Amino acid sequence: MATPLPVLVDVDTGGDDALALLLAMASPALEVRGISCVAGNCGLEQVVTNTLRLLDGIEAPPVPVAAGMDRPIVDAGLPPPALHGSDGMGDLGLPGPRRRALSMHAVEFLRDALTEAAAPLTLICLAPLTNIAMLLRTYPQVGEKIARLYAMGGTYAAPGNATPAAEFNVRCDPEAAAIVLQSGLPVTLYPLDPFVQVRITREEAEAMTRAAGAGARIAGGIALHYCRYFGADFSLIGDAGTVAAVIDPEGASTVRSPVRVELTGGATRGATIFDRRLWAAEEAEDGFSEIEVVTGVDAPRYRRLMAAALGVEDMLGD
Ligand code: BDR
Ligand code: CA
Repeated sequence: MATPLPVLVDVDTGGDDALALLLAMASPALEVRGISCVAGNCGLEQVVTNTLRLLDGIEAPPVPVAAGMDRPIVDAGLPPPALHGSDGMGDLGLPGPRRRALSMHAVEFLRDALTEAAAPLTLICLAPLTNIAMLLRTYPQVGEKIARLYAMGGTYAAPGNATPAAEFNVRCDPEAAAIVLQSGLPVTLYPLDPFVQVRITREEAEAMTRAAGAGARIAGGIALHYCRYFGADFSLIGDAGTVAAVIDPEGASTVRSPVRVELTGGATRGATIFDRRLWAAEEAEDGFSEIEVVTGVDAPRYRRLMAAALGVEDMLGD
């Protein structure tokens, strides 16, 4: 088997961040070297609690968890979206946590993890990009230790979700998103376009809550929470799709495109503007940076990946 890819994961756990962590922790293709937490789907303290409870719930081996920024760089932050439940993670009633976070700030943790790594690491960012922007501004030298930065955020051709124009993670901290996406580092963005493609049906979620594995039961509970909240017969794997795109890039269609984050707009603040003009110049416009964008994914393939990681191939098919 190939050597697992060493990754750092930045989260605002978050029901769908929890699904992403379940996939990342279970996948033999990844070695999770640490988890950094940031305010987003809920307040920072709750994000940390949720992350630790989740790791306890699957009896994960010790993995460093660090608390980072408790608010965006400029804005006061968006109110926690009600869809994630009152605890931000589907109100599953998980006990604990028993394990603890590091006493070190997440930005310092990320710096050390990158600096001390023998080879560049992959960053998987599933939340407002506040921690990562602070890291790049404070310790720009770590840029050379980032092999690739995957970020869930923005929209390519899809509408927004936090506002008509903007996706939640980018709208939460547009300045941070601008710093990271326009950094010139190797970035792959996983926007709302593929985010909404990979589903778990209500029936599958119900079956998963009775699975043998704790991870599958938790994932089923989270998916069921979203089905109930939206009164829908399906839920999304959401952030977990970004992890799937790291594990299995062949399942994703990508384009290379110049991007810029709208900072000054009113209704458009936090929108990701891609230069999709047919006649776009060879060179990116001023202020735009070229990144890779996932425009679509092979949903059955990523469902199979998720099912295999959770050991529920019989419950989560094509
Ligand atoms: C993103 O916002 C959060 O609500 C989710 O966890 C995901 O990272 C989707 O817009
Ligand atoms: Ca998230």
